Amino acid sequence: MVTTLDDTKRTAIARKLAEMKEIQKLLIENEQHLLREISDSEIRDRIQKMLDDDNKNLGIIETVNVQYGIQAEPSKNAKEIVQKLGQLMQSSELSLYEKVFQHELLKHQQVMSGLTIHKAAQKVGADVLLAIGPLNTVNFENRAHQEQLKGILEILGVRELTGQEPDQGIWGRVQDAMAALSGVFGSAVTQTTDKSDMNIQDLIRLDHSKVNTLFTELLASNDPQKIQEYFGQIYKDLTAHAEAEEEVVYPRVRPFYGEADTQELYDEQAQMKQELEQIKAISPSSSQFKDKIRQLMDAVGDHVRQEESTMFAAIRNNLSTEQTEQLATQFKAAKQRIQEKLAKQGPQGAATK
Ligand SMILES: [Fe+2]
Ligand SMILES: [Fe+2]
Repeated sequence: MVTTLDDTKRTAIARKLAEMKEIQKLLIENEQHLLREISDSEIRDRIQKMLDDDNKNLGIIETVNVQYGIQAEPSKNAKEIVQKLGQLMQSSELSLYEKVFQHELLKHQQVMSGLTIHKAAQKVGADVLLAIGPLNTVNFENRAHQEQLKGILEILGVRELTGQEPDQGIWGRVQDAMAALSGVFGSAVTQTTDKSDMNIQDLIRLDHSKVNTLFTELLASNDPQKIQEYFGQIYKDLTAHAEAEEEVVYPRVRPFYGEADTQELYDEQAQMKQELEQIKAISPSSSQFKDKIRQLMDAVGDHVRQEESTMFAAIRNNLSTEQTEQLATQFKAAKQRIQEKLAKQGPQGAATK
């Protein structure tokens, strides 16, 4: 009998992700505020570009939150800090230099949260690392923003202290520092550029490969506790994915994908749900458990192949780029709602009765 699937490590990472989202919103607010206060055109251009990146990165953080599969609230402390800092940035108590200084600290915090999540994910499991992959881009860009903010601070600081312009060469140094960074982050970044414009096929494919990774991790483990944790995540991910497909994707593709093929997908998912419920009732340490998991993995594999071959082809042939991106937004929202519903079913998670 599966008793508890509330994995504290996974939930702690979900909370950090939720906090990153709050910080990201504050970064955006701050930059909008700084644009209103700063008249220097070079500095304004740089902050405007930062704001564009940060808006795009908010979308990426939201995608990662949903992809991760567990919804959590930011801690009370984190919420309070965000609120206080927001007020401080809007007040007239701080000079422009001091505001940019606070902003740079906040960027630093965001970079460290992103890197910490990345390191923690390496400890928790390959599926978590996969889910948070797009965060690499956000971490890299925030790190590059920090370098730019250091340059801006130098200029504003010299002006505030002396009323004079600083020596030349600041932007050159900023440029060099950013070039050095792309060497450090390089490969991670090129793989994950432009994740803000993911279409429905991208999102579905990400889910499929995540659940495949979870199956592989589960089958490779002999620790009942770990097996239970992986099964809990498989249960939640498959449920949210399947329900979101049934709500958003299948009704949309039915007219051009065909009645029979679409119905087959519904039927296969109904079968999968039954198998999930059966497995839930078996002890993870029993020999039967992994046999059942293998059966489920095969069924999911067949289903996934059908979606990624004929259904994706039908989508490509019948929907415009904008339509597939709209569908992705709807799919993400539906999944988030379903994940929240699953979380409310109790502190022991979805895979318990
Ligand atoms: Fe499906
Ligand atoms: Fe699917």
